[in-house]
Amino acid sequence: MGLDTERTAPPGTTSRRVVMTTLGEPEALRVRTGARPAARRGRVVVRVEAAGVSFAEVQTLRGLHPFPPKPPCVLGYDLVGRIVEVGPGVTGWRTGDRVVSMPRVGAWQEYAEVSAKSLAGVPEDLDAGEAVALVCNGVTAWQMLHRSARVRPGATVLVHGASGGVGTLLTQLAVRHGVRVIGTASPAKHDAVRALGAEPLDYRDDVVAAVRKLAPRGVDAVFDHIGGAGLNAGWSLLAPGGTLVSYDSSVAGYRPGQWFRPHLPALRKVIGWNVAGLVGAARGRRARTYYVKPGPHFRDDLASLFTLVRDGVLRPTVARRYPLDEAGRAVRELIDGGVIGKLVLVP
Ligand SMILES: NC(=O)c1ccc[n+]([C@@H]2O[C@H](COP(=O)([O-])OP(=O)(O)OC[C@H]3O[C@@H](n4cnc5c(N)ncnc54)[C@H](OP(=O)(O)O)[C@@H]3O)[C@@H](O)[C@H]2O)c1
Repeated sequence: MGLDTERTAPPGTTSRRVVMTTLGEPEALRVRTGARPAARRGRVVVRVEAAGVSFAEVQTLRGLHPFPPKPPCVLGYDLVGRIVEVGPGVTGWRTGDRVVSMPRVGAWQEYAEVSAKSLAGVPEDLDAGEAVALVCNGVTAWQMLHRSARVRPGATVLVHGASGGVGTLLTQLAVRHGVRVIGTASPAKHDAVRALGAEPLDYRDDVVAAVRKLAPRGVDAVFDHIGGAGLNAGWSLLAPGGTLVSYDSSVAGYRPGQWFRPHLPALRKVIGWNVAGLVGAARGRRARTYYVKPGPHFRDDLASLFTLVRDGVLRPTVARRYPLDEAGRAVRELIDGGVIGKLVLVP
């Protein structure tokens, strides 16, 4: 990975950042050094302690993420750090506060300027890597379980990708809530999925047949990030009153410049199933789409997750920590599929 340095600048006046200079593969990422950003109106500058590496960056590099940013741009969906400067018009936050933010782009740098509206507080004693694993992935897992599907103790659910960043947290949260989890993953990760308390299945097998064998009356919720035909399979596996939550169409055939395409069939299906529900033709089953966003629920739910970690009930799985210079290696590792849990960049 390329590296530009300004060795003479006083500390704290420059910021190193991971720049996507062109669309393509992670090896094309470059680390650049520029002036530290200043906080504009309604915004703060955060000294980043840890930033998350996620599927969003893989998709962004390939031009496949929804509303993809144009290069050159700094990647990075979410971060944990400390406020070093507060812009005009910001209330409620002070220099020195430890915070998380989910800017969607721009987290992979030493100093990030982010909207004050996107902030939530972080306990001082929480590990930065574990905290950042909870920002996008943890809130997604929590809200899909408790707000979208509203799963009750005693229920049985199907979690696709139970070995991933979202999946490991969703599985732990569900198990802790008294829910039986059937989790799909590649066979090499089945032991890890089992250790989280789930019953693993290989997503390359006949998942419908395997789930029917384990849960003959059907499952109460399906959490699906794969889209395509998998959505129909998930819907068919729901017990009466169950909920399908569709939160991406990642394996359903994106093409550059057409990132929206795979989402349309998923959206059509979700709408169609809900219309069927309105006329009483869905056996009480519901379908929901989910997209994580900042706001009051985001802050409340993140606080609940932090409490669970502090109480030792939830353990975010930090697979590996990389320095900024090795961001490309981290993304490559994610693409190669060997990761269990969350990869984290530590500037
Ligand atoms: N809607 C939202 O707000 C939101 C928020 C966060 C994430 N997401 C989406 O959620 C997905 C997961 O994100 P992540 O950060 O957890 O990614 P990740 O860590 O890369 O995990 C991806 C998971 O998908 C599994 N997988 C791969 N192919 C599969 C298939 N054909 N069927 C079932 N599972 C398969 C992988 O299993 P193996 O590694 O065992 O192959 C892995 O467990 C991504 O698509 C991401 O864009 C959406």
